[in-house]
Amino acid sequence: MKFFLDTADISEIREAQETGLLDGITTNPSHVAKANRNFVDLVKEICEIVQGPVSAEVTAEAKDEMLRQGRFLADLAPNVVVKVPLTQEGLKAVKVFTEEGIKTNVTLCFSSVQALLAAKVGATYISPFVGRIDDLGNEGMGTIREIRKIYDNYGFATQILTASTRSALHIQEAAMAGSDVATMPYTLFKKLVNNPLTEIGLKLFDTDWNKISAEFRTY
Ligand code: E4P
Repeated sequence: MKFFLDTADISEIREAQETGLLDGITTNPSHVAKANRNFVDLVKEICEIVQGPVSAEVTAEAKDEMLRQGRFLADLAPNVVVKVPLTQEGLKAVKVFTEEGIKTNVTLCFSSVQALLAAKVGATYISPFVGRIDDLGNEGMGTIREIRKIYDNYGFATQILTASTRSALHIQEAAMAGSDVATMPYTLFKKLVNNPLTEIGLKLFDTDWNKISAEFRTY
């Protein structure tokens, strides 16, 4: 499963990039607002740091303006993926982008039937928001499992990008469900490596190692 970082924060992206685990970036207007700088410059800079796909979201609601914005964004760098909301107008725009060879990430997906629509118009990625589904008392990961089944039933190539992840359990379950990608905040990305037993084991090995006389520890 690929790991994307869900952020527009350059320092977080640089740090995550150094781990060798980062496969791509998803941004959204809320992340861009936090970065508080020119959107175009920001997208270009992220695309220079990360070789993998970088999602940049259109803000228009009507198809024609989405097309104009999306084509502009796609021209900024070869790894830009145009992020489009899962609305009727958005799906119309995705169909055109697909025909033009522009990669898309259909966002704000909250059901498997919505994901089916996105696949039918050729979306490159579908982003179901599992955390926000959980927030309403439903099981977000159930939606991922349904989408996996539907896509496999019909051989859709659209990649499932599990979004709005909030815990290591979300990442584990997304991988078990066969999600192609999980995007996550940097706070979660950093937590995935941690396990208290690793820390305890390391401390014990260190203590025992230091019991060995110095001449036998040289290598
Ligand atoms: C995905 O592309 C979205 O940017 C993101 O995962 C939304 O997450 P949130 O529900 O934590 O805002």
